[in-house]
Amino acid sequence: MIRVLGIETSCDETAASVVAVDGNAAPKILSNIVLSQIEEHAAFGGVVPEIAARAHVEALDGIIEAALADSGVALADIDAIAATAGPGLVGGLIVGLMTAKAIAAAANKPLIAINHLEGHALTARLTDGLNFPYLLLLVSGGHTQILAVRGVGDYQRWATTIDDALGEAFDKTAKMLGLPYPGGPNVEKAAQAGNPSRFAFPRPMKGSAQPDFSFSGLKTAVRQAATAIAPLSDQDVADICASFQVAVADALADRVSRALTRFRQTFPATRNPALVVAGGVAANRTIKAMLERLCAEAGFSFIAPPLKLCTDNAAMIAWAGVERLRAGMAQENGFDFVPRSRW
Ligand code: KG4
Ligand code: ZN
Repeated sequence: MIRVLGIETSCDETAASVVAVDGNAAPKILSNIVLSQIEEHAAFGGVVPEIAARAHVEALDGIIEAALADSGVALADIDAIAATAGPGLVGGLIVGLMTAKAIAAAANKPLIAINHLEGHALTARLTDGLNFPYLLLLVSGGHTQILAVRGVGDYQRWATTIDDALGEAFDKTAKMLGLPYPGGPNVEKAAQAGNPSRFAFPRPMKGSAQPDFSFSGLKTAVRQAATAIAPLSDQDVADICASFQVAVADALADRVSRALTRFRQTFPATRNPALVVAGGVAANRTIKAMLERLCAEAGFSFIAPPLKLCTDNAAMIAWAGVERLRAGMAQENGFDFVPRSRW
């Protein structure tokens, strides 16, 4: 039996979790506590790093205590402590990693420094027992990437954004239209009453041989459309949101279908190829339906883990710790690890 305590503080969620695995049995999430700071940041229309770091300091001890208590596992019976060490906002990373180091030192446990993106990348093995290799589409407020996940610690980045992250494009669009933060869910809601063909927004990178994403041109087009017809009625806002959402889904579809083809070519022996989604934007039903359709057409399984495990959480960090322990890849001495805001 391996039991790992995970800690996540890289953005605006303070989270702790205990994950256990016994031999080849399915892993168990024994506890998974996530405290969102959305309310602290809402007035500013985005995450304020200094406020985030202070909120982590205030909440983290209690969250860790609650995660241990919920799991029914005593700290003495934990095998290792895994903490997000990057990438992310450095203030939060320092709070989480230093707290993890202190607990690990006091309890004489190994400390495993985890890359936040590795947490997202390995989640589908926790939830769905997926085998390597598979394709990951990560679409969050901070990241827009396609990764070929080949093994623990073995990731190939096939595409990334050359400007804004997709969630960021949703958030900025919402802000321009006067919709509250976080923008994604509010844009989706407004779009339901809108006409998706009223505005012909660009589909950035569509047809490009370069595999990457771009969303800033789309954001500019939204701003120009909104300025041209201001003041905006509720119907105008709904139409802009609906038109923006189909443009995003269309642009994304082009990028993802390229990656599906590349996956087939790169891993011809993979009999049941799968596309996994992670990140908050995966909650969007228009985008999800588009991905489901693409996967069905290309013969890929479409794996969307429960949203609670798709967005930032500590179960994915604890699980990455389990995977690293099992693969003999826990660093010799995580105590020497310095937080990396870019990693
Ligand atoms: O993964 P996540 O919770 O946090 C990080 O960014 O790390 O993702 C949050 C992002 C935000 O930009 C939010 O606007 C977006 O996901 N989002 C959505 C939806 N729900 C959340 N975007 C589009 N449609 C949604 N329904
Ligand atoms: Zn994340």
